[in-house]
Amino acid sequence: MKFAFAASSGTLKKEVVEVEFKENDLVFFTIKDGRKIMELGIGKREDITRRKLIILARKIIETAKNYRIKKIAVDFNEFLFPKLQNIDWKDLASLLVQNFVLANYEFNRYKTEPKEGWKHVEEVTIISAPDAVIKKGVQKGIFIGEEINACRELANIPGGEMTPPILAQKAKEAAKGTKVSVKILGKKEMTAMKMGAVLGVAQGSVHEPQFIILEYKGGGKDAPVVLVGKGVTFDSGGLSLKPSDSMLEMHMDMSGGAAVIHAVTLAAKLELKKNIVGLVPAVENMPSGSSYRPGDILKSLSGKTIEVLNTDAEGRVILADALTYAEKFKPRLVVDVATLTGASLIALGEHASAIMTPDQNLETLFRRLGEESGDYVWPLPLWEEYEENIKGNMGDISNIPANGNTRYGGVINGGMFLYQFAKNYPWVHIDMAPRMTPAKGDCLARGATGAPMQLLIKLLEEY
Ligand code: BES
Ligand code: ZN
Ligand code: ZN
Repeated sequence: MKFAFAASSGTLKKEVVEVEFKENDLVFFTIKDGRKIMELGIGKREDITRRKLIILARKIIETAKNYRIKKIAVDFNEFLFPKLQNIDWKDLASLLVQNFVLANYEFNRYKTEPKEGWKHVEEVTIISAPDAVIKKGVQKGIFIGEEINACRELANIPGGEMTPPILAQKAKEAAKGTKVSVKILGKKEMTAMKMGAVLGVAQGSVHEPQFIILEYKGGGKDAPVVLVGKGVTFDSGGLSLKPSDSMLEMHMDMSGGAAVIHAVTLAAKLELKKNIVGLVPAVENMPSGSSYRPGDILKSLSGKTIEVLNTDAEGRVILADALTYAEKFKPRLVVDVATLTGASLIALGEHASAIMTPDQNLETLFRRLGEESGDYVWPLPLWEEYEENIKGNMGDISNIPANGNTRYGGVINGGMFLYQFAKNYPWVHIDMAPRMTPAKGDCLARGATGAPMQLLIKLLEEY
């Protein structure tokens, strides 16, 4: 999708010669010179909030795509809604453009191009006063949108073609040409380091686990922010095998990892003056003769033992080692991003990721960043009462409740488990399973959403 700029040519509406087409909230007018005006009914201008603006931006592109319109022009001034008076123009331009770019994406890699071509919009002209601030915002929006689409592409690739070694390769490719350095630990290195948790989960797969480390140094001697992403390239459940239907989308179980990889490379492209580390433990969770078993007790990098009572609760197990590894960097903040639990969908539906943190200020910060970015998040408690649920019978910590009802509070149990490995630094857990794929009305293509990259990049900019 290309972007161009043009000065306002007054109100085109005056030149309308006919109403070409009308359907529900959509009207096409034809103007004198044959061009068309597309009018989308969106309710009262006074009612447009930042949330609605995000959907509006995507809806414009979605509608153009549906009518196979290749070139569109939008007037920046029309987006200056009364409720959005305190957004600065750079921010507004970026928000609009990144959502145009997101709405234009489709996962076409495995499809034959139809005769009439793909539906994509090819060019968007931004009509505005010649304002450097708006141009900067547009440029930023393109960077963000395209990097998020690259993240979605990774997550969408089927499990057969997105194994841990391939994900590691993709991380290197994503970092090419940027100031991000990528280091990969293989099975040998992980064995030497005693990362028993990652190795345990990976045991059943023919594909070697990989521990992906991305480093961006834009902040001199400052302590880094460390992002940790779940990189399960396919989650069959392992010996605690998932039912077929639940397994269908599990090639996207590395969505957190993909978001972390591309958040770090995006931070580099935006030249943020921060130090940022990305850690992605990558494994495939498979049933086989060599799989880890229910009842197995793994010795994690931290030294604590993990009693595996369900091999399908594998995300928390691999993240345990990654969270311990994060300590090496003496981080000022660690954020993990994971499609951790189906229970988060039960709790929140499809519109928000769950967050958990022991730090009230971080919770408040993340709520705001969520609201502003469109990657909405909602908190759940990390109270000590819940610690009972993750005490092991035979090992230190169990990956599902050893003695209680395993159906209650599944999101919290997942977060509480991770917390045991994240006590030595400020930490936020994002269970992004609800946002792995879009909800109805998101105006995003089928497949991965790229969440919560918009939140992460705002965090990296601001924190
Ligand atoms: N990857 C899944 C969680 C998931 C489910 C993500 C649906 C996205 C959509 C995770 O590894 C898992 O299987 N969790 C189990 C945990 C349970 C065994 C305690 C779950 O949610 O059922
Ligand atoms: Zn699982
Ligand atoms: Zn999983």
